[in-house]
Amino acid sequence: MKRNIILIGFMGCGKTSVGSRLSRRLHRPMTDTDQMIEEISKMTVSEIFDRMGEEGFRRMETQCLKRLLEETEAQIISVGGGLPVREENRCLLGQLGIVIYLRVTPMTVCRRLASDTSRPLLQGENSEERVQTLMAQRRDIYEAVSDIIIDADDKEFDEIIDEIINRTGERMGINNEIAGD
Ligand code: S3P
Repeated sequence: MKRNIILIGFMGCGKTSVGSRLSRRLHRPMTDTDQMIEEISKMTVSEIFDRMGEEGFRRMETQCLKRLLEETEAQIISVGGGLPVREENRCLLGQLGIVIYLRVTPMTVCRRLASDTSRPLLQGENSEERVQTLMAQRRDIYEAVSDIIIDADDKEFDEIIDEIINRTGERMGINNEIAGD
């Protein structure tokens, strides 16, 4: 199996922030699938949803994973919150490395994303209700596809990173001296 560390979880759970800090700590490159899609398509996620619909965006996410499977070996990869919903993507995630689920409650998501305008699925009225519904639909999927679950609600990023390093270290070939920097 490849030694990538993949971060999954609902929008606002901290995947990108944890991923970039983990990348610095382990001196490993980091890829974020939303950013990768935006760079390749030269559109923002919102523009892709507008022009090609959610299905078009989901197709791009699958292409992105296939490319990462060919091109990466020991990176940090953070993926969009809806990516694991497609069965094909779950299969690809399993081949890509160790999957870490940053679990947060709907309350945390609503608090963190209250003024966010970049997530098309949460725009408009009743966004709190939508967070509840989407999370209820996805919770079991996230748990089933992950190797490690981290409850991330009340933890500082550094605490989460320590936990990831402690729980994946040997399996991922992480050198403790580097990780301790
Ligand atoms: C989505 C999550 C977003 C982005 C898109 C759809 C989702 O990524 O991929 O807006 O369906 O949960 P983040 O989880 O990084 O916010």
